[in-house]
Amino acid sequence: MTMEMREDMVRRLVVVSNRLPVVLSSSDGNWRSEPGSGGLVTALAPVLRNRGGLWIGWPGTAVEDGVQEALERAVDGAGYSLVAVPLETGEVDRYYRGFSNEIIWPLFHDLQTRCNFDPEYWDTYGNVNRKFADVTAAHTGDGDFIWVHDYHLMLMAQNLRELGSRAKLGFFLHIPFPSLDIFVKLPWRHQLLRALLAYDLVGFQTMRDRRNFIQCLRTLLNGTETRGRGQVCEISADDMSVRAGVFPIGIDYRQLERDAGSHEVAESAWHIHENLPDRQIILGVDRMDYTKGIPERLKAFGRLLERHPEHRRKITLVQVVVPSRRGIPEYEVLKAEIEQLVGQINGQFTESSAWVPIHYIYGSLNHLDLLGYYRASEIALLTPYKDGMNLVAKEYCACSLEENCVLILSEFAGAVAEMQRGAILVNPHDVAGVAEALHEAIVMPPAERHRRMHLLRLVVKKHDVFWWVDSFLRASIEKDLGNFPIIPDYVPPAPQPR
Ligand code: UDP
Ligand code: G6P
Repeated sequence: MTMEMREDMVRRLVVVSNRLPVVLSSSDGNWRSEPGSGGLVTALAPVLRNRGGLWIGWPGTAVEDGVQEALERAVDGAGYSLVAVPLETGEVDRYYRGFSNEIIWPLFHDLQTRCNFDPEYWDTYGNVNRKFADVTAAHTGDGDFIWVHDYHLMLMAQNLRELGSRAKLGFFLHIPFPSLDIFVKLPWRHQLLRALLAYDLVGFQTMRDRRNFIQCLRTLLNGTETRGRGQVCEISADDMSVRAGVFPIGIDYRQLERDAGSHEVAESAWHIHENLPDRQIILGVDRMDYTKGIPERLKAFGRLLERHPEHRRKITLVQVVVPSRRGIPEYEVLKAEIEQLVGQINGQFTESSAWVPIHYIYGSLNHLDLLGYYRASEIALLTPYKDGMNLVAKEYCACSLEENCVLILSEFAGAVAEMQRGAILVNPHDVAGVAEALHEAIVMPPAERHRRMHLLRLVVKKHDVFWWVDSFLRASIEKDLGNFPIIPDYVPPAPQPR
């Protein structure tokens, strides 16, 4: 590493994301803070604890008085600071619920029929990105590394450059980037792509996402790849040039492994098993989101009980659903659908109070309780229709200390690229296939479980969250773009000859 590079790597890190690690709410003039939910927050919190720096984002409230002090109290002693970007109620409606979660979220997960392309959403999205840029410009200097996260803030680099910032600007997309056929449906497709070119480096979770981005640039803005064909490359379009790289996000493996081995977690796992004796626990953990494939998963579990009655009373599905994005109509509909399916399957198969097939938990678990469930469950069943990464899959493996658990994973989760060799892979739309995968997992011999889980844990440990940060920061300054390992995409296998 050259001297220049070392200096670049120690620039102050300024993270900007819609979410801060805490969500504030106030009642009777008192502030309450709760941890934010989702993979972005879980991944970035240990990074900032480790490196220090600044985190700029929306505190989850429109009230401004006392917010900054409440944030300071919430992260006191964490080693980094928070800065709030307060948003008005109308802005939250049109920028966060509207543009981000009724347009970009469904579109980028290939669900264009769920999009509501309201032009007012776009206007407010632009204004709020400018607001984030104003706050960021006021708190940063040209020597900082400003790292913007996720689909809420894709226009920010353009705004920062207009404000005269000369800091290094990186962007990481936590969710998938769609194929050209889907992306072109966006009425503001040219503006959005052009805005992304204003970053120095744009990062994606998988090769497929980056390939889709390049294809959109080629077709819509006459882009060409000028340098590098591996994990990091350079693309020119519209008289601008950007680096684009693939950086699969990871977890704080060592910390999680330590926590999973603690006395508190062992006790919590013991209690969970004590209440569900003599059976294998199958675990699903998801935010309440229509991309996570929860209804099909429940149907697959019901089918397993129907086709393999020998497993009845010997297995329980624990499905944890974390409340998310309340107030968006599609999310409310999903909640009702899931609850109806749980009731229907439990109604059909429960024989006595001694065995209820599905335990449904609607709520957020604290860290140690979540690890208790990871430790107590023999099988994890994670079947998103499409997912940027799916950190739950990685956390589950990190907590399988005895390497005796099985991971069943969707072919369409970003995590599949790294985890394809150890997980049982399923197409989440294939209810019969998922039911058979469950059967295979339930009867899998211990030696095979161990072989697979060992492979999974090796890769999750190697590509942890600190590896992810280092690769990203290095890619923004490295001269030799060939210097990064390639993580090939998963390709579904050809059918077996009969
Ligand atoms: N999680 C949590 N509390 C819960 C359940 C889950 O904090 O009760 C966390 C979990 O540890 C994981 C994150 O939520 O880090 C979910 O991330 P993932 O990438 O799987 O999906 P996302 O919600 O970001 O779409
Ligand atoms: C996903 C997104 C994150 C988001 C999280 C929780 O992980 O990639 O950007 O923070 O979901 O969603 P929310 O809307 O509550 O921030």
